[in-house]
Amino acid sequence: MTRTLYYTATSLDGFIATSEHSLDWLVSRDNDPAGPMGYDVFFAQIGALVMGASTYAWVTEQLDGDWPYDQPTWVLTHRDFPTPADGVDVRFRSGNVAELHPEMVAAAASKDLWVVGGGDLAGQFAERGLLDAVQVSVAPVTLGAGAPLLPRQVELRLTGVARNRDFACLSYDVVR
Ligand SMILES: NC(=O)c1ccc[n+]([C@@H]2O[C@H](COP(=O)([O-])OP(=O)(O)OC[C@H]3O[C@@H](n4cnc5c(N)ncnc54)[C@H](OP(=O)(O)O)[C@@H]3O)[C@@H](O)[C@H]2O)c1
Repeated sequence: MTRTLYYTATSLDGFIATSEHSLDWLVSRDNDPAGPMGYDVFFAQIGALVMGASTYAWVTEQLDGDWPYDQPTWVLTHRDFPTPADGVDVRFRSGNVAELHPEMVAAAASKDLWVVGGGDLAGQFAERGLLDAVQVSVAPVTLGAGAPLLPRQVELRLTGVARNRDFACLSYDVVR
């Protein structure tokens, strides 16, 4: 059964990017993608992705046209973005995530749906009862301000704790 998962890295004080959308504080840290709660195991179970406009802009700027995902990807936006490359499955939509969620779940084909970010988008799923779990890797830094991790009240149950090099990794189920 497809689960809807918010998987991200965060500063200790709960920001996933600086106010200028920089991730320099994150990408400079040591992390083993094959290690505890690492990206490799997580990503192997992902069948579809969804992200907001700022996150999409960041991904495309970093990649120089080389889109990294084979899975169907929804980008929620009111803007007109170009598709990242020919033949990639990126679907631009706007509106209520509850109305879009069934087609994302169907596309995931029994694998999981990754809410890449930002935090408000994860909150949109959570407030409609559609978010199943949250997994965060906490970088050893505070930022003081920036893009928030999850700006809602969401009740969670701790399901895992691990260290991955510089990161404290925490996983939670959403309590409904
Ligand atoms: N630390 C990490 O691992 C990590 C992970 C993911 C992202 N990030 C970074 O975190 C930052 C997140 O930025 P952000 O907080 O601005 O969040 P975001 O979700 O990336 O972008 C927010 C924007 O998405 C659009 N949007 C969101 N929901 C929508 C909806 N239901 N319908 C239509 N449009 C919708 C709106 O833009 P428009 O109305 O302008 O289209 C909104 O302003 C980025 O810098 C990203 O690179 C970090």
